[in-house]
Amino acid sequence: MGEQLSFDAPRGMRDFYPSDMIWRNKVFDAFRAAAEAAGFQPYDSCVVENYDLLARKAGEEVGEQIYHFYDKSERHIALRPEMTPTLARMVAQKQKELSFPLKWTTIAQCFRYERMTKGRKREHYQWNIDIIGEDSVLAEVEVISAACDALRRMGLSSADFKVHVSSRRLLGEVLERSGVPADRHAQVFLALDKRGKMPDSEISAMLADGGLEESLIEKVFQILSLSDLEAVRAYLGEEASSSKALSDLDALFSLAATAGFADCLVFDIGVIRGLSYYTGIVFECFDTKGEFRAVFGGGRYDNLLTTIGGEPTGAVGLGFGDVVVTELLKSRLGEDAVLSRKGIAVGFMCDEQRDAAVKLASSLRASGEAVDLSLRAQKPKKFFSRADSSNAAKAVFIGPDDLERGFGKLKDLQTREEVEICLT
Ligand code: HAM
Repeated sequence: MGEQLSFDAPRGMRDFYPSDMIWRNKVFDAFRAAAEAAGFQPYDSCVVENYDLLARKAGEEVGEQIYHFYDKSERHIALRPEMTPTLARMVAQKQKELSFPLKWTTIAQCFRYERMTKGRKREHYQWNIDIIGEDSVLAEVEVISAACDALRRMGLSSADFKVHVSSRRLLGEVLERSGVPADRHAQVFLALDKRGKMPDSEISAMLADGGLEESLIEKVFQILSLSDLEAVRAYLGEEASSSKALSDLDALFSLAATAGFADCLVFDIGVIRGLSYYTGIVFECFDTKGEFRAVFGGGRYDNLLTTIGGEPTGAVGLGFGDVVVTELLKSRLGEDAVLSRKGIAVGFMCDEQRDAAVKLASSLRASGEAVDLSLRAQKPKKFFSRADSSNAAKAVFIGPDDLERGFGKLKDLQTREEVEICLT
C-alpha cells in the first residue's frame, strides 16, 4: 500500500469549497460592479512573470517574499506577488498606441511567501484599479471612491471602515523641516511602515541602526502625533502655503465631500505603505474596530514606468485583497449572510416518473429557472431534506399520483405554500 498523502492544501494556499465560493463570488461581484460603475476597463495577464521585473533591492518585504524558480530553459521566472509591475510592463510595451489616461481593473491571484498571520496568506486574490497617465488628484479620489463603493455593495458602511490617507511627499516635507536629511527619508519610511507590526522601541532601534541621531528619532515620533492637516500646516509654518502635497490633500478631502464619501476618509500621517514605488498620496483602509489587517491599500506612483524603461507617466491605484474583507464581512454581517435560497429542486419517487421529471426540469430551465434535478428515484423525506440543505427556494416531487393527474406540486420551501404545476 502506498504512503497516505496529506489532504491539506500546501501551507498558506486555500481550497475553495462551494460554501467558500459563495463568499468569494459576493466579494468579486462587488469588485466588478464597482469597477464597471466607475468606468474601469478589465485587463489580465499570466500569474507567471519575469523575475527581474518583480525583484527589487529597496529592502522592502514584498521583494523578499517572491516565489521564484528557473524553467527548463534556465529562464528566471516568478509567481507575481502583486499586479502593479506587470501593469507597468504592459503599459510600457504599448505606450505609443494607448490613449491616456487609462482606467484599468483586474482581479489577480498573487503569491507571497510571507509569515502567516491573521488576514495574511501565501496566496490571495487582489482586486486592482489603476489610473495611468493622470496627474490630477481627482484620479486618487476616483480610485478611493470606487473602493468605498465596493465595500458598500458588500453591505458595509462608513461606520465599519475608514480609509486612512496621507502623502509621502508631505511626510518628506515635514521630515525635512525637522532636520531629517532627504537621503534618509526612504529609510525612515521603511521603518515607520512597521508601526503596529512591531513595538516603537524596535522601530527606534531600526532608525538608530541606520545612523539617525537620537534627537532626530525623537522628532520623527513627534511628527507621528500630528493628528490633522491643521496641525501639519502649523508645523510647516510659512512653507505650508507653497506645499503642493498639502494643497493636493486639501483638494482630495474637498472633492471627496462633493462626491459624498468624505465620511469614509481620515487623515493619518502614519500611513506610509511598504512598497518603495509610491511618490505622493498614499492610503490604506482599516476596519473601525481595529481588529483586522489592512483591507486595501494604494497610492500615487509616478516613477514606476520610468524605472522599468517607459516614458514618464503619472499613475495612481490600489490593491484590495479578498482575505481580510471576507473575514470582516463574516464578522460584521454574520456567517450566514450569503445564504439565500435560490432555484428549484426537482425529484421523483420511482423510475416510472423519471421522464416526467426530466421533462419538467428541461422546460423550467428553458424558461430561465435554475433547476437541481435528482439523479435517481428517492423517498420524499430524503428529497426534501436535501433540497432544504442545498438552499433551494422551491421543490417539486413527482409521485405516481401526480403523473396520473398530469400536475405536480411546486412547494415554496420557506412559506410551505404549494401551487400546481403542469407536467405535460
Ligand atoms: P499591498 O499593500 O502590498 O499593495 O497589497 C494590497 C492589498 O492586498 C492589502 O491591503 C491586502 O488587502 C492584500 N494583501 C496583500 N498581501 C496579502 C497576503 N499575503 N494575504 C492576503 N491579502 C494580502 C500592493 O500590492 C500594490 N501593488 C497595490 C497597488 C495597485 N498600488 C497601486 N496599484
